[in-house]
Amino acid sequence: MDLISTTDLSDEQLTYLLDASENWFQFNRQLRKSDDRLAGLNVVTAFFENSTRTLLSFDIAARRLGAMVTNLPVEISSVSKGESLMDTAFTIDAMRPDVLVLRHPQPGAPRDVAGWMNCPVVNAGDGAGEHPTQGLLDVATIRRHFGRIEGLKVAICGDIRHSRVANSTEKLLRRLGAHVTLAGPKPLMPDAYDGPDGIDHALDGADVVMMLRIQRERLSGDLGDRPGEYLNAYGLTEERLAMASPQAVVMHPGPMNRGVEIEGAIADSDRSLIRAQVEMGVAVRMAVLDQATIERRTRNPA
Ligand code: NCD
Repeated sequence: MDLISTTDLSDEQLTYLLDASENWFQFNRQLRKSDDRLAGLNVVTAFFENSTRTLLSFDIAARRLGAMVTNLPVEISSVSKGESLMDTAFTIDAMRPDVLVLRHPQPGAPRDVAGWMNCPVVNAGDGAGEHPTQGLLDVATIRRHFGRIEGLKVAICGDIRHSRVANSTEKLLRRLGAHVTLAGPKPLMPDAYDGPDGIDHALDGADVVMMLRIQRERLSGDLGDRPGEYLNAYGLTEERLAMASPQAVVMHPGPMNRGVEIEGAIADSDRSLIRAQVEMGVAVRMAVLDQATIERRTRNPA
C-alpha cells in the first residue's frame, strides 16, 4: 500500500488506521515498546526538505516495529551532482528497500516516485501538496481528546495557501464530519477564497484552534510583516482564544514560531495539544508502516 494522499484511503482503511494508532499510542507508553512485525525489513527515509518531527518519528516508529532504517542524507547525495529524481529512485529501488518514506518540495513527486519503485512509498510531505500522516495524527489527536470528530468546530488558521498540513487535515476532518473553517491573512489564503481577512470569524465558538506557521521557504520577497505585527493582526493571542469555546484546545503541527503565529504561553498551557500531536505522530507512523508492508509480508512470510 502506498500512502500518497489522504484520498488514497478507503473509509475502512481510515477507520482502521485511526484505531490502530490509538493502540500504538498506548503501546508506546509502556517501558518496553518493541514489536517484531517488521523484523528484517528495510525502511529507507529520503527527505529533500528539512524535518524534525516527521523524520524522527518515522525513524522511531520503524525501529519500534523491528525494521532496519536507513536515511539517505540528501544534502551530501548525488542529487547535488545533477542526478534526476527518477535515477535517484531507481538507485534506491535497486537496493531492495521494503518501504520508502519520501519528503520532497515538488507537489506530486511521491506519486511519480511510487511509479518507479517496487516497494510501497509513503508521502512525508510534498511541497504545498499533501502530508497524509500529519492529517492522520491531527485527527487521531482530536479524536483521542474529544472522543469524536463529528460535529466539532475546527478553525485552521495561518498560511493556508502553502500548507500541505491544512490540505490533508482539512480533508480528513470534513470526511469525518467536523465543521472546518480556514482563515488567515488574505494573501496567504487560496486563490478561490472569498471570506474575510483575518482569523477572528473562524475562532468564534471553535472547539479546536489549529495554528500554522508562515511557509517562508515557499514565498518570494518580503512579506512586510514584523513578528509583533503579525501576532497582533493574525496570531493566536489570549484575547483571541477567549472567542473560542471554553473547552477549546490549541494545536500546531510544528515547527512553531512563538510570538509570530502563536503566543508562547498558549503553546505551553494546558489547553495545548501540541506535544500530544507529536506523541501521536509516532503511533500513526507505526500504524502506517505496518499497513504499508502488510501485503509484501503476507506474500513472503518469514
Ligand atoms: C509541517 C511540514 O513540514 O509540513 N511540519 C510537520 O511535518 N509537522 C509544517 C511546516 O513545515 O510548517
